Amino acid sequence: MTVLLEVNGLKKYFPIAGKGPSGSMIASWLRSFNQNVPDLRQMLHAVDNVSFSISEGESLGLVGESGCGKSTLVAMLSRLADCTSGKIEFSGRDISAVPARSFHAEPERSELQIVFQDPHESLNPRFTAFDTIAEPLKRLKGLTEKSGLSEKVGALAEQVGLPAALLGRFPHQLSGGQKARVNIARAIAVSPKLLILDEPTSALDVSVQAVILKLLVKLKKDLGMSYLFVSHDLNVVRLLCDRVIVMYLGQIIEEGPTEQIFTNPAHPYTKALNAAVPGGKLRAGEALRLEGDPQSPIDPDPNSCRFYGRCPVGKDVCSRLAPPEVFLTEEHMAACHFVEKQASLDLLE
Ligand SMILES: Nc1ncnc2c1ncn2[C@@H]1O[C@H](COP(=O)(O)OP(=O)(O)OP(=O)(O)O)[C@@H](O)[C@H]1O
Ligand SMILES: [Mg+2]
Repeated sequence: MTVLLEVNGLKKYFPIAGKGPSGSMIASWLRSFNQNVPDLRQMLHAVDNVSFSISEGESLGLVGESGCGKSTLVAMLSRLADCTSGKIEFSGRDISAVPARSFHAEPERSELQIVFQDPHESLNPRFTAFDTIAEPLKRLKGLTEKSGLSEKVGALAEQVGLPAALLGRFPHQLSGGQKARVNIARAIAVSPKLLILDEPTSALDVSVQAVILKLLVKLKKDLGMSYLFVSHDLNVVRLLCDRVIVMYLGQIIEEGPTEQIFTNPAHPYTKALNAAVPGGKLRAGEALRLEGDPQSPIDPDPNSCRFYGRCPVGKDVCSRLAPPEVFLTEEHMAACHFVEKQASLDLLE
């Protein structure tokens, strides 16, 4: 399979403003003249050394709890935010070298589209559904009324199950599910190679979520795009994705084919996620219940497992040594000191 997106050692650190002398205005002023003035500010490690790839036609799920860095990763991939370091190759080209502010002029802009986390907030209140869907067609494909803009918008509305009669409505006149459909139509309008969906259903009620998920499954079949599907719900990912990566506090802690992540999760955090899924293979037993608060994402200790303190199987070594990447199969990786021992434990009911 041809690799479409290749991400290597991607990091996004946010400086915590005003902490210590090196975070002062004088220090940032000096830094603007001289790159060598060290930046010793406290940093929030939102995404920390993340590497993965997506092949053409493949759909990858990205799961992890709130605040683990999913949207920050998505913002870098879709070039809405610059990276602290690392590389993003899309269709063989290093797009991380293009500053986020000028990416809109690049050819990859139309090949890489995103459906944002909140369908209510991501629509322009002054645009009708028609305007929203038409906007990328005009801007990125140069379509005009004469060259069939209305027909194309009508066909897209039909494809996402949005009644044509609603195209003249403004966002406040549409339901959550209808807004989600408008967002999806806008994203697929320019036939992207990669569609990134950041929790596209989390702001919708459960019955609407199911309908939108069915629509996404159908579109995947019809259009043959690659998906990066972000969710905190492992069950939702199962429906759509070939492979899954699990993130915890800015890092990938497990990665593998969807079925293996479901039937044989290896990392204690994935096991806990799995236990919370209705119908998941593992059950929420004592050993799988997570206790305590997550570690702080601000300047985390590089020589410690970030799950330590909350992990039901963590030992002293986890606080002294970063976990190794253990490959259970060629495609299934878990970053944990105790993967093999875990695998031999019978955690099934
Ligand atoms: N612009 C910013 N400045 C400083 N910190 C930020 C910024 N954006 C995000 N963060 C921090 O980065 C971390 C990751 O946030 P992010 O929004 O990527 O999480 P998420 O996994 O998408 O969470 P959710 O599931 O709630 O959407 C959080 O600790 C957050 O507070
Ligand atoms: Mg998010």
